[in-house]
Amino acid sequence: MKRIKTLLTVSLLLMAVQVCFSQRTPDKPLPKWEGLADTPQMGWSSWNKFQTNIHEDLIKDIADKMVEYGLVDAGYVYLNLDDGWHGERDAQGFIHEDPEKFPSGMKALADYLHARGLKLGIYSDAGTNTCACYAGSLGHEYQDAFMYAHWGVDYLKYDWCYTNNINPKGAYALMRNALRAAGRPILFSMCEWGSSKPWEWAADVGHSWRTTGDIGISFMPIPLRRGPDGRPLWKALGVMEIVEMNEPLRQYAGPGHWNDPDMLEVGNGMSVSEDRAHFTLWCMMAAPLILGNDITNMTPETLAIITNREMIAVDQDPLGIQGLRLKKDGDLQYWFKPLSDGDWAFCILNTGDAAVMVPVDWTALEVNDTLSGRATSFGIVNYTVRNIWNPAAKPFTTLAKGRGKQRGQMVPVNTQVVVDPHDVVAFRLTPKQ
Ligand code: GLA
Repeated sequence: MKRIKTLLTVSLLLMAVQVCFSQRTPDKPLPKWEGLADTPQMGWSSWNKFQTNIHEDLIKDIADKMVEYGLVDAGYVYLNLDDGWHGERDAQGFIHEDPEKFPSGMKALADYLHARGLKLGIYSDAGTNTCACYAGSLGHEYQDAFMYAHWGVDYLKYDWCYTNNINPKGAYALMRNALRAAGRPILFSMCEWGSSKPWEWAADVGHSWRTTGDIGISFMPIPLRRGPDGRPLWKALGVMEIVEMNEPLRQYAGPGHWNDPDMLEVGNGMSVSEDRAHFTLWCMMAAPLILGNDITNMTPETLAIITNREMIAVDQDPLGIQGLRLKKDGDLQYWFKPLSDGDWAFCILNTGDAAVMVPVDWTALEVNDTLSGRATSFGIVNYTVRNIWNPAAKPFTTLAKGRGKQRGQMVPVNTQVVVDPHDVVAFRLTPKQ
């Protein structure tokens, strides 16, 4: 075992030396890996449910269930270890997994996942320590990237704790270079909580950037609390708080570089309606869909939400345009997302505490989206409207031949829908030929 470790260390050192003396010196900017996130990444992460209580058996069980319940088929291919997988650095500075939590080693875990159609994600931090105080990558960026590549890692989430006065642009570019130099395509998920507005500078650095602080298990805003000294305490953000911060950033998202409003809390304690609304809003915002629940123990409702293929298709649409909120009207919000082939996703959200009967007047919902150059043109284009969360409902059309004065003319067919409290109705609109 000791001999294998020495051999491994020597070969990693040789690889690192090779890079230093090749054309691609560590100081020279290297391009990020392209083609890894043409649509927002999908997977599962250990953090929201298990925090640092992760170990090999649990992760293998999650992997098995992701296959068994059709999650991998639905597109959730990344299985991401978040904080707490780490062991110690060795004398040469190479990081190793915690031997008690992962006795078979990270490479064996990667092999296990790859054999099941999954990919392995890992977590580190640009500072001296991770947020849960394990070893950060500061000063070890290239060594860590080589180790991840050696293990067969496919995804890196890179956090921002214990960074003191480091410049985020430099720190994230350094890790991007290291990942490229290490030679294995690894999706780079930046997690600096939006502090330095990464959407303005990181399109060629990472594949996604967090736009906010951490999500909590709450649909509505979580109140701020203060410590005995009157200072505000750290708080998680409710789904609707995150939506307010992420929605205005739509111009910055696109294929290969996404706004990340944090991992999903579906199945972690909100009501089924709230889970459905949360999932829908993430899809409308073309967000990475990283599940955060206990896959080994979930309700049929949770499974139905996270595997709704039509809703996932809205998130994963190849146009890659983040949706927009057309308007707010009291507790109601009207959202649209331009999709490929002239389609649109349309959703009505009710943030209030009572069900509302909503009249849907297409002419009052006209969208002219300068970002995508798309318009709904409800007065001219006739759409077939399919209910995404209730596919058994009969599809209807937005225009029909008028009667009376408008005889023979195509006129809007308005309708009405009931939207339950903290819930959505969502439709896919497809132009009729
Ligand atoms: C930060 C991140 C979270 C999670 C924890 C792990 O808070 O924003 O998503 O990774 O660290 O400690």
